Amino acid sequence: MRVLGIETSCDETGVAVYDTARPGADGLLAQALYSQVALHAEYGGVVPELASRDHVRKLLPLIRQTLAEGGLSVADLDGVAYTAGPGLVGALLVGAGVARSLAWALDKPAIAVHHMEGHLLAPLLEAPDLAPPFVALLVSGGHTQLVAVEGIGQYRLLGETLDDAAGEAFDKTAKLMGLPYPGGPQLARLAEQGRPGAYKFSRPMTDRPGLDFSFSGLKTQVLLAWQGSAQCDQTRADIARGFEDAVVDTLAIKCARALDAAGSNTLIVAGGVGANLRLRAKLAQMADARAGRVCFPRPALCTDNGAMIAFAGALRLAAGQCSHASIDVRPRWDMASLPALDATADA
Ligand code: KG4
Ligand code: ZN
Repeated sequence: MRVLGIETSCDETGVAVYDTARPGADGLLAQALYSQVALHAEYGGVVPELASRDHVRKLLPLIRQTLAEGGLSVADLDGVAYTAGPGLVGALLVGAGVARSLAWALDKPAIAVHHMEGHLLAPLLEAPDLAPPFVALLVSGGHTQLVAVEGIGQYRLLGETLDDAAGEAFDKTAKLMGLPYPGGPQLARLAEQGRPGAYKFSRPMTDRPGLDFSFSGLKTQVLLAWQGSAQCDQTRADIARGFEDAVVDTLAIKCARALDAAGSNTLIVAGGVGANLRLRAKLAQMADARAGRVCFPRPALCTDNGAMIAFAGALRLAAGQCSHASIDVRPRWDMASLPALDATADA
Protein backbone atom coordinates (compact mmCIF):
# COMPACT_ATOMS: atom_id res chain seq x y z
CA MET A 1 0.00 0.00 0.00
CA ARG A 2 1.42 3.40 -1.02
CA VAL A 3 0.57 6.24 1.33
CA LEU A 4 1.22 9.93 0.89
CA GLY A 5 2.15 11.60 4.20
CA ILE A 6 1.68 15.31 4.85
CA GLU A 7 3.14 17.18 7.84
CA THR A 8 2.21 20.84 8.46
CA SER A 9 1.83 21.08 12.25
CA CYS A 10 4.38 23.84 12.82
CA ASP A 11 7.15 25.41 10.74
CA GLU A 12 8.15 22.59 8.38
CA THR A 13 6.20 21.45 5.34
CA GLY A 14 6.97 17.73 5.02
CA VAL A 15 5.78 15.31 2.34
CA ALA A 16 6.69 11.64 1.75
CA VAL A 17 5.38 8.48 0.13
CA TYR A 18 5.66 5.22 2.09
CA ASP A 19 5.15 1.76 0.59
CA THR A 20 4.17 -0.92 3.15
CA ALA A 21 5.39 -3.66 0.78
CA ARG A 22 9.00 -2.86 1.68
CA PRO A 23 10.63 -3.19 5.13
CA GLY A 24 11.52 -0.18 7.28
CA ALA A 25 13.13 2.81 5.64
CA ASP A 26 13.27 0.96 2.28
CA GLY A 27 9.56 1.74 2.07
CA LEU A 28 10.28 5.46 1.77
CA LEU A 29 9.85 5.94 -1.97
CA ALA A 30 10.33 9.70 -1.89
CA GLN A 31 10.37 12.54 0.60
CA ALA A 32 10.81 16.30 0.66
CA LEU A 33 10.96 18.92 3.36
CA TYR A 34 10.62 22.67 3.20
CA SER A 35 11.74 24.52 6.33
CA GLN A 36 10.28 27.93 7.20
CA VAL A 37 13.21 28.77 9.50
CA ALA A 38 14.33 31.77 7.43
CA LEU A 39 10.78 33.16 7.40
CA HIS A 40 10.44 33.15 11.20
CA ALA A 41 14.06 34.00 12.09
CA GLU A 42 13.58 37.76 12.17
CA TYR A 43 10.75 37.36 14.73
CA GLY A 44 12.80 35.07 17.00
CA GLY A 45 10.14 32.33 16.91
CA VAL A 46 7.31 30.82 14.90
CA VAL A 47 4.57 33.29 13.85
CA PRO A 48 1.48 31.06 13.42
CA GLU A 49 -0.25 33.12 10.70
CA LEU A 50 2.92 33.31 8.61
CA ALA A 51 3.41 29.57 9.07
CA SER A 52 -0.10 28.79 7.75
CA ARG A 53 0.34 31.07 4.73
CA ASP A 54 3.67 29.52 3.85
CA HIS A 55 2.23 25.99 4.07
CA VAL A 56 -0.46 27.15 1.60
CA ARG A 57 2.26 28.35 -0.78
CA LYS A 58 4.55 25.35 -0.48
CA LEU A 59 2.43 22.26 0.07
CA LEU A 60 1.09 21.55 -3.43
CA PRO A 61 4.44 22.17 -5.20
CA LEU A 62 6.12 19.94 -2.60
CA ILE A 63 3.60 17.12 -3.21
CA ARG A 64 4.21 17.39 -6.98
CA GLN A 65 7.99 17.39 -6.42
CA THR A 66 7.84 14.36 -4.10
CA LEU A 67 5.70 12.33 -6.48
CA ALA A 68 7.95 13.25 -9.42
CA GLU A 69 11.09 12.23 -7.49
CA GLY A 70 9.51 8.87 -6.72
CA GLY A 71 8.44 8.41 -10.35
CA LEU A 72 4.85 8.33 -9.13
CA SER A 73 1.56 9.96 -10.00
CA VAL A 74 -1.43 10.53 -7.71
CA ALA A 75 -3.05 7.47 -9.30
CA ASP A 76 -0.32 5.31 -7.66
CA LEU A 77 -1.45 6.33 -4.18
CA ASP A 78 -3.63 4.01 -2.08
CA GLY A 79 -4.21 6.46 0.77
CA VAL A 80 -3.34 9.80 2.31
CA ALA A 81 -2.10 10.46 5.86
CA TYR A 82 -1.86 13.90 7.43
CA THR A 83 -0.95 15.40 10.78
CA ALA A 84 -4.21 16.37 12.49
CA GLY A 85 -2.61 17.50 15.77
CA PRO A 86 -1.21 18.49 18.13
CA GLY A 87 0.08 21.71 16.57
CA LEU A 88 -0.86 25.17 15.32
CA VAL A 89 -4.51 25.14 14.25
CA GLY A 90 -4.11 27.16 11.03
CA ALA A 91 -1.04 25.20 9.96
CA LEU A 92 -2.78 21.88 10.66
CA LEU A 93 -5.84 22.96 8.65
CA VAL A 94 -3.73 23.52 5.54
CA GLY A 95 -2.41 19.94 5.57
CA ALA A 96 -5.77 18.46 6.58
CA GLY A 97 -7.63 20.38 3.85
CA VAL A 98 -5.25 19.33 1.09
CA ALA A 99 -5.02 15.71 2.30
CA ARG A 100 -8.78 15.26 2.65
CA SER A 101 -9.51 16.91 -0.71
CA LEU A 102 -6.93 14.77 -2.49
CA ALA A 103 -8.23 11.57 -0.90
CA TRP A 104 -11.81 12.56 -1.77
CA ALA A 105 -10.88 13.28 -5.39
CA LEU A 106 -9.00 9.97 -5.70
CA ASP A 107 -11.70 8.06 -3.79
CA LYS A 108 -9.03 6.72 -1.46
CA PRO A 109 -9.00 6.52 2.36
CA ALA A 110 -7.40 9.23 4.45
CA ILE A 111 -6.20 9.06 8.03
CA ALA A 112 -5.60 11.71 10.68
CA VAL A 113 -2.20 11.08 12.28
CA HIS A 114 -1.13 12.18 15.76
CA HIS A 115 2.12 14.12 15.35
CA MET A 116 3.71 12.58 18.45
CA GLU A 117 2.75 9.06 17.34
CA GLY A 118 4.53 9.89 14.08
CA HIS A 119 7.65 10.80 16.07
CA LEU A 120 7.24 7.75 18.29
CA LEU A 121 7.03 5.28 15.41
CA ALA A 122 9.91 6.83 13.39
CA PRO A 123 12.54 4.59 15.10
CA LEU A 124 10.70 1.56 13.65
CA LEU A 125 11.62 2.84 10.20
CA GLU A 126 15.30 2.37 11.12
CA ALA A 127 14.91 -0.91 13.00
CA PRO A 128 12.08 -2.96 11.49
CA ASP A 129 12.83 -5.80 14.00
CA LEU A 130 11.92 -3.48 16.86
CA ALA A 131 8.54 -4.33 18.36
CA PRO A 132 6.69 -3.22 21.51
CA PRO A 133 6.82 -3.41 24.46
CA PHE A 134 9.40 -0.68 24.97
CA VAL A 135 9.75 2.74 26.56
CA ALA A 136 9.73 5.88 24.41
CA LEU A 137 11.35 9.19 25.27
CA LEU A 138 9.57 11.88 23.24
CA VAL A 139 11.55 15.10 23.25
CA SER A 140 10.42 17.85 20.91
CA GLY A 141 9.79 21.58 20.97
CA GLY A 142 6.33 21.10 22.49
CA HIS A 143 6.58 17.80 24.37
CA THR A 144 8.77 15.94 26.82
CA GLN A 145 7.19 12.63 27.70
CA LEU A 146 8.16 9.15 28.81
CA VAL A 147 5.69 6.64 27.44
CA ALA A 148 5.31 2.91 28.03
CA VAL A 149 4.51 1.53 24.58
CA GLU A 150 2.60 -1.72 25.00
CA GLY A 151 1.60 -1.94 21.34
CA ILE A 152 1.07 0.46 18.45
CA GLY A 153 -1.68 2.77 19.66
CA GLN A 154 -1.35 1.50 23.25
CA TYR A 155 0.44 4.27 25.06
CA ARG A 156 0.70 4.75 28.83
CA LEU A 157 2.14 8.05 30.01
CA LEU A 158 4.84 7.45 32.63
CA GLY A 159 5.98 11.03 33.07
CA GLU A 160 6.06 14.41 31.37
CA THR A 161 7.28 17.95 31.81
CA LEU A 162 5.43 20.14 34.27
CA ASP A 163 6.49 23.32 32.45
CA ASP A 164 8.84 23.79 29.45
CA ALA A 165 9.52 20.98 26.99
CA ALA A 166 13.19 20.04 26.54
CA GLY A 167 13.35 21.60 23.07
CA GLU A 168 11.59 24.72 24.32
CA ALA A 169 14.18 24.99 27.13
CA PHE A 170 16.99 24.71 24.54
CA ASP A 171 15.33 27.39 22.38
CA LYS A 172 14.63 29.82 25.25
CA THR A 173 18.09 29.38 26.76
CA ALA A 174 19.71 30.02 23.38
CA LYS A 175 17.57 33.13 22.91
CA LEU A 176 18.46 34.65 26.27
CA MET A 177 22.16 34.33 25.40
CA GLY A 178 21.54 36.10 22.09
CA LEU A 179 21.64 33.12 19.74
CA PRO A 180 19.43 33.29 16.65
CA TYR A 181 16.28 31.20 16.18
CA PRO A 182 16.03 28.23 16.08
CA GLY A 183 18.15 28.05 19.18
CA GLY A 184 18.34 24.34 20.04
CA PRO A 185 20.73 23.19 17.31
CA GLN A 186 22.73 26.45 17.62
CA LEU A 187 23.15 25.97 21.36
CA ALA A 188 24.24 22.36 20.83
CA ARG A 189 26.84 23.48 18.28
CA LEU A 190 28.13 26.16 20.63
CA ALA A 191 28.36 23.66 23.51
CA GLU A 192 30.99 21.79 21.49
CA GLN A 193 33.40 24.63 22.30
CA GLY A 194 32.34 24.81 25.96
CA ARG A 195 34.45 23.41 28.80
CA PRO A 196 32.69 20.64 30.72
CA GLY A 197 32.18 21.55 34.38
CA ALA A 198 32.95 25.27 33.93
CA TYR A 199 29.28 25.89 34.80
CA LYS A 200 27.30 23.35 36.78
CA PHE A 201 23.52 23.56 36.73
CA SER A 202 21.07 21.39 38.64
CA ARG A 203 19.49 18.17 37.34
CA PRO A 204 15.87 19.18 38.10
CA MET A 205 13.63 16.72 39.93
CA THR A 206 16.18 13.91 39.92
CA ASP A 207 16.61 14.08 43.71
CA ARG A 208 13.14 12.68 44.32
CA PRO A 209 11.22 9.70 42.97
CA GLY A 210 9.03 10.10 39.91
CA LEU A 211 9.25 10.44 36.16
CA ASP A 212 8.11 14.02 35.60
CA PHE A 213 10.42 16.78 34.39
CA SER A 214 10.76 20.52 35.00
CA PHE A 215 13.07 22.58 32.82
CA SER A 216 11.97 26.16 33.40
CA GLY A 217 14.13 26.62 36.54
CA LEU A 218 17.19 25.63 34.55
CA LYS A 219 16.51 28.47 32.14
CA THR A 220 16.50 30.89 35.10
CA GLN A 221 19.80 29.45 36.37
CA VAL A 222 21.29 30.07 32.94
CA LEU A 223 19.93 33.63 32.88
CA LEU A 224 21.54 34.43 36.24
CA ALA A 225 24.85 32.83 35.19
CA TRP A 226 24.84 34.72 31.89
CA GLN A 227 23.98 38.06 33.50
CA GLY A 228 26.71 37.58 36.11
CA SER A 229 29.35 36.66 33.52
CA ALA A 230 31.64 38.62 31.22
CA GLN A 231 29.23 37.67 28.38
CA CYS A 232 32.10 36.75 26.07
CA ASP A 233 32.12 33.93 23.49
CA GLN A 234 33.88 31.48 25.83
CA THR A 235 31.42 31.98 28.72
CA ARG A 236 28.53 31.61 26.27
CA ALA A 237 29.98 28.31 25.10
CA ASP A 238 30.74 27.17 28.68
CA ILE A 239 27.19 27.97 29.80
CA ALA A 240 25.78 26.21 26.72
CA ARG A 241 27.84 23.13 27.63
CA GLY A 242 26.70 23.28 31.29
CA PHE A 243 23.06 23.61 30.21
CA GLU A 244 23.27 20.80 27.66
CA ASP A 245 24.94 18.48 30.18
CA ALA A 246 22.22 19.26 32.75
CA VAL A 247 19.36 18.49 30.31
CA VAL A 248 21.07 15.38 28.93
CA ASP A 249 21.89 13.97 32.40
CA THR A 250 18.35 14.66 33.61
CA LEU A 251 16.82 12.91 30.61
CA ALA A 252 19.18 9.93 30.99
CA ILE A 253 18.46 9.53 34.72
CA LYS A 254 14.70 9.56 34.07
CA CYS A 255 14.99 7.17 31.12
CA ALA A 256 16.81 4.61 33.29
CA ARG A 257 14.10 5.01 35.93
CA ALA A 258 11.34 4.65 33.33
CA LEU A 259 12.87 1.42 32.01
CA ASP A 260 12.93 0.08 35.58
CA ALA A 261 9.33 1.18 36.18
CA ALA A 262 8.11 -0.43 32.94
CA GLY A 263 10.21 -3.59 33.43
CA SER A 264 11.77 -3.03 30.02
CA ASN A 265 15.30 -2.77 28.70
CA THR A 266 14.51 -1.19 25.31
CA LEU A 267 14.34 2.55 24.89
CA ILE A 268 13.46 4.47 21.77
CA VAL A 269 14.08 8.18 21.41
CA ALA A 270 12.13 10.47 19.10
CA GLY A 271 11.46 14.15 18.47
CA GLY A 272 13.73 17.05 17.53
CA VAL A 273 15.92 16.94 20.66
CA GLY A 274 16.65 13.31 19.75
CA ALA A 275 18.97 14.79 17.12
CA ASN A 276 21.23 16.04 19.93
CA LEU A 277 24.52 14.16 19.70
CA ARG A 278 25.38 14.38 23.39
CA LEU A 279 21.95 12.98 24.31
CA ARG A 280 22.42 10.13 21.84
CA ALA A 281 25.86 9.29 23.27
CA LYS A 282 24.67 9.49 26.88
CA LEU A 283 21.64 7.26 26.31
CA ALA A 284 23.75 4.74 24.37
CA GLN A 285 26.12 4.63 27.37
CA MET A 286 23.20 4.21 29.78
CA ALA A 287 21.76 1.36 27.70
CA ASP A 288 25.17 -0.35 27.45
CA ALA A 289 25.64 -0.21 31.19
CA ARG A 290 22.41 -2.15 31.71
CA ALA A 291 22.87 -4.44 28.67
CA GLY A 292 19.83 -2.81 27.11
CA ARG A 293 19.04 -1.35 23.72
CA VAL A 294 18.43 2.21 22.61
CA CYS A 295 17.16 3.16 19.13
CA PHE A 296 17.14 6.59 17.53
CA PRO A 297 16.04 7.52 14.07
CA ARG A 298 18.64 9.33 11.96
CA PRO A 299 18.67 13.05 12.91
CA ALA A 300 16.57 14.04 9.85
CA LEU A 301 13.82 11.68 11.05
CA CYS A 302 14.01 13.05 14.63
CA THR A 303 12.97 16.57 13.64
CA ASP A 304 9.62 17.15 11.91
CA ASN A 305 9.25 15.40 8.55
CA GLY A 306 6.65 13.89 6.23
CA ALA A 307 8.16 10.38 6.34
CA MET A 308 7.06 9.68 9.90
CA ILE A 309 3.50 10.74 9.07
CA ALA A 310 3.38 8.61 5.90
CA PHE A 311 4.73 5.65 7.91
CA ALA A 312 2.40 6.01 10.92
CA GLY A 313 -0.59 6.57 8.63
CA ALA A 314 0.37 3.61 6.42
CA LEU A 315 0.48 1.27 9.45
CA ARG A 316 -3.02 2.33 10.46
CA LEU A 317 -4.49 2.38 6.93
CA ALA A 318 -3.00 -1.07 6.21
CA ALA A 319 -4.74 -2.31 9.39
CA GLY A 320 -8.06 -1.09 7.99
CA GLN A 321 -8.34 2.10 10.00
CA CYS A 322 -9.36 5.39 8.43
CA SER A 323 -11.07 8.48 9.73
CA HIS A 324 -14.33 10.07 8.55
CA ALA A 325 -14.28 12.64 5.78
CA SER A 326 -14.62 15.90 7.71
CA ILE A 327 -11.62 18.22 7.89
CA ASP A 328 -11.13 18.36 11.63
CA VAL A 329 -7.88 19.04 13.42
CA ARG A 330 -6.94 18.77 17.08
CA PRO A 331 -4.45 21.40 18.29
CA ARG A 332 -4.44 19.49 21.60
CA TRP A 333 -4.75 15.74 21.42
CA ASP A 334 -4.03 13.15 24.10
CA MET A 335 -2.00 10.28 22.61
CA ALA A 336 -3.50 7.85 25.13
CA SER A 337 -6.89 8.33 23.40
CA LEU A 338 -5.66 6.77 20.13
CA PRO A 339 -7.12 3.40 19.11
CA ALA A 340 -4.89 0.34 19.27
CA LEU A 341 -3.61 -0.76 15.88
CA ASP A 342 -5.54 -4.00 15.81
CA ALA A 343 -8.84 -2.29 16.67
CA THR A 344 -10.64 -1.15 13.49
CA ALA A 345 -11.77 2.41 14.05
CA ASP A 346 -13.93 4.92 12.30
CA ALA A 347 -12.88 7.81 14.48
O1 KG4 B 1 10.16 17.53 16.77
P1 KG4 B 1 10.54 18.91 16.34
O2 KG4 B 1 11.24 19.07 15.02
O3 KG4 B 1 9.29 19.86 16.31
C1 KG4 B 1 8.28 19.77 17.26
O4 KG4 B 1 7.39 18.91 17.09
O5 KG4 B 1 8.39 20.53 18.24
O6 KG4 B 1 11.44 19.50 17.51
C2 KG4 B 1 11.97 20.77 17.45
C3 KG4 B 1 12.77 21.03 18.70
C4 KG4 B 1 13.21 22.48 18.80
O7 KG4 B 1 12.94 22.95 20.10
C5 KG4 B 1 14.70 22.41 18.50
O8 KG4 B 1 15.42 23.42 19.13
C6 KG4 B 1 15.05 21.05 19.07
O9 KG4 B 1 13.97 20.22 18.71
N1 KG4 B 1 16.31 20.53 18.49
C7 KG4 B 1 17.44 20.32 19.21
C8 KG4 B 1 18.41 19.84 18.29
N2 KG4 B 1 17.83 19.77 17.05
C9 KG4 B 1 16.53 20.19 17.19
N3 KG4 B 1 17.70 20.50 20.51
C10 KG4 B 1 18.94 20.19 20.93
N4 KG4 B 1 19.92 19.73 20.13
C11 KG4 B 1 19.70 19.54 18.81
N5 KG4 B 1 20.68 19.08 18.02
ZN1 ZN C 1 7.61 17.35 16.06
